[in-house]
Amino acid sequence: MGAVSQRLFGVEWQGPVLLASGTCGYGEEYSDLIPLDDLGGLVTKAVSVEPREGNPPHRISETPGGMLNSIGLENVGLEAFVREKLPWLEENLDRARVLVNVVGNSVDEYAAVVAGLDDEDGFLGYEINVSCPNVEGGTMFGTDREALGRLVERLRGETDRPIVVKLTPNVPDIGAYARVCEEAGADGLSTINTFPGMLIDVDKRRPVIGNVNGGVSGPAILPMGVYLTWQAATATDLPIIGIGGIRSAEDALQYVLAGASLVQIGTALFVDPESAVGVTEGIEKYIEERDVGDLSELVGTVDVERPARVGLGYE
Ligand code: SIN
Repeated sequence: MGAVSQRLFGVEWQGPVLLASGTCGYGEEYSDLIPLDDLGGLVTKAVSVEPREGNPPHRISETPGGMLNSIGLENVGLEAFVREKLPWLEENLDRARVLVNVVGNSVDEYAAVVAGLDDEDGFLGYEINVSCPNVEGGTMFGTDREALGRLVERLRGETDRPIVVKLTPNVPDIGAYARVCEEAGADGLSTINTFPGMLIDVDKRRPVIGNVNGGVSGPAILPMGVYLTWQAATATDLPIIGIGGIRSAEDALQYVLAGASLVQIGTALFVDPESAVGVTEGIEKYIEERDVGDLSELVGTVDVERPARVGLGYE
């Protein structure tokens, strides 16, 4: 394994870059575009117990510096995922790791997805989505520490596979939520999901997005993602996967220095699917040029003199 490989969640990751949930389908959709098996891995679109149709169009709009999306967690549902999507992942990815993004409307629904997948092959673990701003209840668990703790505890009882919780940025103190996940038995965190946003068509005087609001992603949110990753990293010992606005190796390295061991690329793929490969190569070059032994030596090493100033002063 090379200088950018990482040992995390009990396994070796050949590279630090994963494709983010919702931006690469179930993997197969991207197989003609980039050599998926050369990446660190990918996170599938969310899987729920029942299939979901998602939100009405328009579902995506470009913004200055990013994208607004409101897909509404459209997915094929647990049964079809196991029957039609997992076999492709198992057959085609040997080295890249797969996390399945899991959603539900209740603790029981999340648990049913995990229980329904746990004996299957073709993936390493779960990214638990408690942070979708685009459906009713999508952030219900991600913004209530007690509910979050109960959810993670229950899922811990359902599986020995890695549980990575994808946190919402829309809380006053992400560190407190990170600690809840750690105490409840999570193995890692993904920081962060999108910020809520809205665009208005001034000719029609109507929202651009069919569901009115959506989640903002892309370069515009990079500084928020880096900051919240740093906050989460200083609050817990859990390994972190950094997400939000990454387009280049320098962007990814900011997350690494803030405390992320792996990163995810999402919105950038809509502009350049190969950016995931370029980011990995750029990180390799940075390590080589600076005579760093390997990537893990850089994780969380940003030189900051004061402790994280957490929270906004309210619960
Ligand atoms: C969506 O499906 O609307 C986006 C998913 C998410 O933000 O978690």
